[in-house]
Amino acid sequence: MRKMNSFGIIFLGFLALAVSAQAQLKLGFYQQTCPKAEQIVLDYVKKHISNAPSLAAAILRMHFHDCFVRGCDGSVLLNSTKTSNASQTEKVANPNLTLRGFGFIDGVKILLEKECPGVVSCADIVALAARDSVVTTGGPSWNVPTGRRDGIISNVTEANNNIPPPTADFRNLTIFFANKGLNITDLVLLSGAHTIGIGHCSSFSARLYNFTGRGDQDPALDKFYAVKLKQKCRSLNDNVTFVEMDPGSVRTFDLSYYQLLLKRRGLFQSDAALTTNAPAKAYIAGLLSGPPQEFFRQFALAMEKMGRVEVKTGTAGEIRKQCAFVN
Ligand code: HEM
Ligand SMILES: *[C@@H]1O[C@H](CO)[C@@H](O)[C@H](O)[C@H]1NC(C)=O
Ligand SMILES: *[C@@H]1O[C@H](CO)[C@@H](O)[C@H](O)[C@H]1NC(C)=O
Ligand SMILES: *[C@@H]1O[C@H](CO)[C@@H](O)[C@H](O)[C@H]1NC(C)=O
Ligand SMILES: *[C@@H]1O[C@H](CO)[C@@H](O)[C@H](O)[C@H]1NC(C)=O
Ligand SMILES: *[C@@H]1O[C@H](CO)[C@@H](O)[C@H](O)[C@H]1NC(C)=O
Ligand SMILES: *[C@@H]1O[C@H](CO)[C@@H](O)[C@H](O)[C@H]1NC(C)=O
Ligand SMILES: *[C@@H]1O[C@H](CO)[C@@H](O)[C@H](O)[C@H]1NC(C)=O
Ligand SMILES: *[C@@H]1O[C@H](CO)[C@@H](O)[C@H](O)[C@H]1NC(C)=O
Repeated sequence: MRKMNSFGIIFLGFLALAVSAQAQLKLGFYQQTCPKAEQIVLDYVKKHISNAPSLAAAILRMHFHDCFVRGCDGSVLLNSTKTSNASQTEKVANPNLTLRGFGFIDGVKILLEKECPGVVSCADIVALAARDSVVTTGGPSWNVPTGRRDGIISNVTEANNNIPPPTADFRNLTIFFANKGLNITDLVLLSGAHTIGIGHCSSFSARLYNFTGRGDQDPALDKFYAVKLKQKCRSLNDNVTFVEMDPGSVRTFDLSYYQLLLKRRGLFQSDAALTTNAPAKAYIAGLLSGPPQEFFRQFALAMEKMGRVEVKTGTAGEIRKQCAFVN
């Protein structure tokens, strides 16, 4: 009996190992099944991002949004359809979310389906393209273990509940990130993605015009910077105009986002919030006191960590034929 038990335990141990081994991402997952997959993504990024550099930021942000809703499973890419699992998809979430670059991902997918049909997931395409996009902006590279499977559910309410709003304070930001297994260090590092890309006035104009509902300004925002922003965003209701988040180096992945934060020139309340917590602020100061390569190294690790959030592997989900629709 005792023997049986320990055998049983060992057997279960092996089973658990087998299941978890199967359920893990791995580097070069497509090496046998689609050896050119990663090169095809890289070539596509190089070709298209040089014509439209602002796309790099869009793809990086898309990866973040994908991972924060149902894990990195490509659900962010799904179009609304009549089926109940995709009736109101993440894409139609809060208009303020203004994601871009869906056509870009569809374009890579078409090439990959030609090369090896039904093999490479849309979730992996987003993860790989985000990494390659950052590299094209002068940022770091990181490991992208692959083998993510595509989800079959996309739900607008879940997007609104899981994507932190630009109005979030530090406490709320930590909760949004902790819900995804990410800590304060990850929060500070990943927010560094705002070194590239744009923000629409609607994401921050309350800071300029009506912060507490008395026609006031956010006192945490540098006054001179506020004047400049108001010249671009002429009213509280402007939802068309956008500004560079990291003016002057919007296309370069560097440390200047953190420099701006310490000058009270972070664009969103969520950016400014990172300096309201002493350990986070100290961490930012530490990043700024080191060489950019150290930030790059840490950012890379945080991205790899984010890319593992709630992934589907093995036989979960599916490999979509078209990224905008479940099979
Ligand atoms: C910490 C919480 C975060 C909040 C509240 C936040 C919020 C926002 C907002 C409001 C915008 C501008 C959208 C617009 O008005 O067009 C934006 C842009 C962007 N975000 Fe974040 N974000 C956060 C974290 C992240 C993370 C973790 C990443 C990636 C690792 C990221 C990458 C980007 C990029 C690259 C852009 C520019 C997109 C473009 O140019 O189209 N953000 N973010
Ligand atoms: C998905 O919907 C968007 C509009 O939200 C549209 O532009 C796009 O063409 C659709 N994608 C496909 C593959 O039909
Ligand atoms: C909707 O999602 C559920 C749960 O994952 C799944 O069992 C069902 O097959 C899905 N329905 C469709 C039409 O994809
Ligand atoms: C932008 O503002 C205009 C005018 O106020 C409004 O009609 C439109 O619905 C808004 N668009 C979004 C995406 O909020
Ligand atoms: C979407 O998610 C919300 C919140 O979890 C849930 O209440 C709702 O039923 C879901 N919608 C669909 C169509 O599954
Ligand atoms: C923080 O989250 C709570 C609960 O969702 C919400 O009521 C509150 O308004 C949020 N505060 C800020 C500053 O975002
Ligand atoms: C956050 O997690 C990383 C490992 O993923 C770790 O190196 C770092 O020290 C953690 N930060 C905090 C504040 O716990
Ligand atoms: C857009 O963001 C602004 C400021 O954060 C907010 O007041 C507004 O309600 C948001 N619009 C929508 C449609 O959610
Ligand atoms: C500012 O906010 C207050 C309270 O929400 C509102 O009554 C007022 O109309 C807003 N002002 C403008 C210009 O939108």
